[in-house]
Amino acid sequence: MPTTVQTFAEKKRRREKITVITAYDALTASMVHAAGIDAILVGDSAAMVFAGFDSTLPITMDEMLYHTRCVSRGAKGAFIIADMPFMSYQAGHDDALRNAGRFLKEAGANAVKIEGGTDPSLVERLVKTGIPVMGHLGLTPQSVNAFGGFKAQGKTETSAAAIVRQAEALDEAGCFSIVLECVPSPLAADISARISAATIGIGAGPGCDGQVSVVNDVLGLSTGYLPRHAKRYAAFYDDGLAAVRAHVDEIRTGAFPGPEHEVGAVAPGKRDKPATPDPAAP
Ligand code: KIV
Repeated sequence: MPTTVQTFAEKKRRREKITVITAYDALTASMVHAAGIDAILVGDSAAMVFAGFDSTLPITMDEMLYHTRCVSRGAKGAFIIADMPFMSYQAGHDDALRNAGRFLKEAGANAVKIEGGTDPSLVERLVKTGIPVMGHLGLTPQSVNAFGGFKAQGKTETSAAAIVRQAEALDEAGCFSIVLECVPSPLAADISARISAATIGIGAGPGCDGQVSVVNDVLGLSTGYLPRHAKRYAAFYDDGLAAVRAHVDEIRTGAFPGPEHEVGAVAPGKRDKPATPDPAAP
């Protein structure tokens, strides 16, 4: 059964965990869809893990539309959530509505994700227009400068209470789901019990209604730092490095290409077709 926004509510009601993973290109999208993931998030994490920036801030609307189109071509029938990039929704509701609409109209997304909980009336407006919205609270990476780094949130009573209030407001405004990123597990479990929107955790413990991971972390397709909350299941980067090194070695030693990689010679008796004479030729 294809995922819809109702699937999030039904799974929450049945206490079945919801699985979400990021993808930014067609091939990865087809792989995670084939693996049976409930939804694909075209995260603005693309700025960091795909484009090599140090934060998510530089990625543009056009780039996010491109990634979303690639993902929807690669994973036909998947439920696709497009992340609204920094400054695509903060400058005004009309602007936000136009940008959110583009993800559904031009790029094949089924929903959008918006960071922060201070403007629930924007969520209300998008939802009324027919655009399902996933919220995102806790460590919202677009606020990295305001937070003074990629720091866990909700660790003091005041900040935990603010996150609870924002989650309730986003729920009320109509979010079908809310990402809780890097907040203490008891806080995430408490929010999950209070609201009807499905909570999707990343670094927020097992008490959420589902989990979202960055696909590069799961595949080991990254160098160096693995966030504490992430788990690596494969070693795509190391395997790729070894494969390319072996290929380079074989070219240098002459082991590649072998006879089996050569284009066959013309079979005896088979001749090239005569070239069509050029009428303009002298
Ligand atoms: O951009 C992203 O990948 C995200 C997830 C980490 C939730 O926002």
